[in-house]
Parts: sequence; C-alpha cells; structure tokens
Amino acid sequence: MLDFDTARQIVDREMDKLRFDRTPEALYEPVKYILSLGGKRMRPALGLMACSLFNQAVHLAIKPALAIELFHNFTLIHDDIIDQSSVRRGQPAVHEKWDTNAAILSGDVMAILSYQVLADVEESQLKEIFQLFNQMALQVCEGQQLDINFEDRTDVDVNEYLKMIELKTAVLIASSLKAGALAGGAEMLDADLLYEFGRNLGIAFQLQDDYLDVFGDPGKTGKKIGNDILSNKKTFLLIKALELAKGNTRKELLKLIKGKNANPKDKIRDVINIYLSLQLDEISNELADSHYSRAIMYLDRVNIPGESKKPLADFAEFMINRDH
Ligand code: IPE
Ligand code: IPE
Ligand code: MG
Ligand code: MG
Ligand code: MG
Repeated sequence: MLDFDTARQIVDREMDKLRFDRTPEALYEPVKYILSLGGKRMRPALGLMACSLFNQAVHLAIKPALAIELFHNFTLIHDDIIDQSSVRRGQPAVHEKWDTNAAILSGDVMAILSYQVLADVEESQLKEIFQLFNQMALQVCEGQQLDINFEDRTDVDVNEYLKMIELKTAVLIASSLKAGALAGGAEMLDADLLYEFGRNLGIAFQLQDDYLDVFGDPGKTGKKIGNDILSNKKTFLLIKALELAKGNTRKELLKLIKGKNANPKDKIRDVINIYLSLQLDEISNELADSHYSRAIMYLDRVNIPGESKKPLADFAEFMINRDH
C-alpha cells in the first residue's frame, strides 16, 4: 500500500512528463505556469493510493489521476477569475500574471487536455471512468454556480452550504479515489465506499479551506486572507454567524455585508472579530471533525485488511489538521 509521500512523488514525476509544446505559446504558457506551482497534488495521490489497495501495479491509475489533476488546475484558474483572487499557491493568479482572456482560454484548454489524458485509460474501464469523470465535472460547475448564487443571499442555510461544497469540492476528491480504485480492479462496492470516504473527507477539506481563508497563514496557504469575506461568500463561518449573531452584532454584520464602500481591511478585521466573538473557529472545526469521522467509517467498511488502509486514514487525519 502506497503512503501519501510516495504516491505524490510518482504523481510529480508523471506530471513532469506531460508536454505542452503546441502553439501558440500564449495559450500554453499559463498551463505550464500553474502546473509549475505544484500545489499539494492530493487528488491524484489519493487516486494512486486507492488503486494500491487492490493492485500493486499503480501505473494503472496514472491516467485518471493526471486527468483529475489537470481538471483541478483548470477549475483553479477559472475560480480565481470568479472569486477575484489575485494570489494562488503564493504566486500571482493566472489572470493577474496575464489577463482575464488568457485565464479563460488557458483554463479551457486545460479542461480539454484533461480529457485527452483520460482518453488513454485502459479500454475495459474507459466507459465507467469516463462517465464518473463527466458526472464529477458537471457537479463541480454546478457547485461553483451555487457558490456564486449564494453571494447575493443572506438566508443560505447550513444544508444548502453542505450541498454546495459537496458539488464544488468533495465530488472531485471522491471521484479521484473511486477512479483509482476501479483502475486497480476493485469491486464496485469497495469503489463506492471509497467514493463516500472521499466525499465526506472533501466536505471536511472545504470546511478547513474556508477556515484557513480567515484564520490561515498566507505564507502557508499561498492565498490572501479574507478573500471570502470581501466577496460575501457564504462560507460555514458566515452562515453560522448570521444564524447566531443577535442584536447589535447582527446589525453590524448585516451592515458589513451590505456596505459597498467599506475599506477592505476594515471589513475583514470587523468580520473576523464577530466570528471570534461567536467562537465560530471552534464550531467550524467541530463540523469538519464530524465529517472526518464519517469518512473514516466508510474507509473502515472497505473490504480489505485494516492495516492496508492505514496510509489513507493517516492522510485523512493530517488533512483535517492541515495549515496549508
Ligand atoms: C484548492 O484546492 C481548491 C479547493 C477545493 C479548496 P487545493 O487546496 O487542493 O489546491 P492545491 O492544488 O493544493 O493548490
Ligand atoms: C474552490 O473553492 C472550488 C473549486 C475551485 C472548484 P474556493 O474558491 O474556496 O477555493 P480557493 O480558496 O480559491 O482555493
Ligand atoms: Mg476561490
Ligand atoms: Mg471559489
Ligand atoms: Mg477557499
């Protein structure tokens, strides 16, 4: 069974082998740039780890893993346009380094490149994995649209939020694991249990991402603090603050959300103070923990010896305590 670090090394090597030497260069430079910034490469590494539960020949899972990482990077380029985020992985976002048009088109080309890699999946599994991939890709776009829709609302509830993050984030992690398992020859039941493991882990992961947007260290996350606050993203923190804040605190929060001309630094500071006064940092971690526990329950049910599943369990634990 592969551990995360070994899986990640294999992924890095395989990613480096991808060649983007078509022209015009202006289209492919941003692709090379975003990939050169790396990131955690958690999704493809999880795919290889899932494969290794059922088959030592982890190369079987490389194609879906690479396709998923390319797809992920495409969503990040477009996400940064949508979210007006200027920094990604500690460096200028693609639309900052170049411009919005370059970010749109290089994102588009990355989505297509990801399908090109996917087309090389072993023929006997191509249909299954292709359908899984398409379902995932539609759901990510649907989740991103809900995320945008929610910006203008103040009545989003926690269940709507959980559905939104399941779509925009969790299904990609879930599908990485399921595709890896299928590529390794897993039974559908086990592949589906790993999907559920990934879905719950992905929800915990996005809760932590939202937490880090507020309480993280930009030196570690590679993103600016408070971007979600500035765009009134309905993160768990904001939804719960709107639910729990009473009296003057609630009035102040609503004013901060509606205020168009507020100084960004002041808005971020004031919203964070409200979050802290309501102890939302702790409440958010508790909810992430409960999804982590649910994830582990599904992993436990995968029909292979417990010892082999330890690297996945270890990674899940590391992930919910992550600071980057
Ligand atoms: C960022 O994902 C997008 C989210 C779903 C929160 P990651 O935090 O996995 O980004 P990289 O690939 O490691 O940079
Ligand atoms: C990202 O959610 C989801 C996708 C990219 C599909 P966020 O917008 O919270 O991700 P970051 O914080 O920009 O990485
Ligand atoms: Mg974003
Ligand atoms: Mg976003
Ligand atoms: Mg975020």
